[in-house]
Amino acid sequence: EKGGYDHFMLKEIYEQPAVIKDTYRGRLHANEGLIKMAGIEDNLQKFLNADRILIVACGTSWHAGLVAEYIFEEFSRIPVEVEYASEFRYRNPIIRENDVVIAISQSGETADTLAAIKLAKEHGAFVFGVCNVVGSSISRETHAGAYTHAGPEIGVASTKAFTTQITVLTLIALRLAQAKGTLTNSDFHRYLQELELIPEKVQQALETNDTAKAIAAIYKDAPNCLYLGRGYNFPVALEGALKLKEISYIHAEGYPAAEMKHGPIALIDEQMPVVVIAQKQEHYDKIVSNIQEIKSRSGKIIAVVTEGDTQVRALADHVIEIPRTVDALSPLLTTIPLQLLSYHIAVMRECNVDQPRNLAKSVTVE
Ligand code: F6R
Repeated sequence: EKGGYDHFMLKEIYEQPAVIKDTYRGRLHANEGLIKMAGIEDNLQKFLNADRILIVACGTSWHAGLVAEYIFEEFSRIPVEVEYASEFRYRNPIIRENDVVIAISQSGETADTLAAIKLAKEHGAFVFGVCNVVGSSISRETHAGAYTHAGPEIGVASTKAFTTQITVLTLIALRLAQAKGTLTNSDFHRYLQELELIPEKVQQALETNDTAKAIAAIYKDAPNCLYLGRGYNFPVALEGALKLKEISYIHAEGYPAAEMKHGPIALIDEQMPVVVIAQKQEHYDKIVSNIQEIKSRSGKIIAVVTEGDTQVRALADHVIEIPRTVDALSPLLTTIPLQLLSYHIAVMRECNVDQPRNLAKSVTVE
């Protein structure tokens, strides 16, 4: 049932090209310039009239929400706030009737997310679910929704759920952008076409497996690890760190790269591996100077670069090359080598990859 893979996690990492395609199939019509999602069309006015979108989720799903925040604000110009469901539900939040709440959950059973949904409904908000498990509590409790088509995710560490959540949220943001006219026609079409190409680029990103494994062998005994990214890839840094800590038990932290100098830079020495997502995209020069700052303090740089990159390559101790895409879609690619890196480190440390200690696949108690 692991399909020839040693662990479910690895199988699920490798399923991503197929399940991203499954998730946009029937919804993304790049040639016609159309996005068709019943849950959105039926409630389009609610989204268009929304003063803001509130995203509630936990863990990896919360990271997908953070990526979506950048995408929604850029594409559809709707203000977005992303909340940990557990904090949201207990702080007497301001929820208005004109708020649209998007709840993201792989399992559809997370207790805090479910409670946040109930609270939002009590305040009259429209609640939209992005779930993977059909018929789950969250999918039933929300007013409408769109499923991810990731298939069963068995590994406790979420991988394919994350990338399919981003896929669904990107489709929604694009549909709203089209309805609102917040993207130019040519940009809109370019995004549709790029999204259609993502599965084959994810397939290419999976070819970094050997490189990730070789890097894993060097750093498997590191006590700490830092992950840095900017913009769309800041949440990917958080997700990379979460993947490493949960399955390998190495202490890892993700930060926006520019926050480095506000504290974490004190941690840098020759023992500290720093994974930097350094794509050739907006603010590239900023990330290059962040890398220089780490190098001058003898930190070890593992950089996830765009293919053909030379500038970061000259500075980094290790590079992992992935294909180029538009900035907004890059998290779907940059995530892949980070999943593989965590996986190999955990295997080399003889950890229980699919069922890490103290963790459950769905957190049905708060
Ligand atoms: C991380 C992980 C958890 C879940 C979180 C939310 O790999 O699996 O952080 O993402 O418990 O779960 P769902 O998405 O089922 O609500």
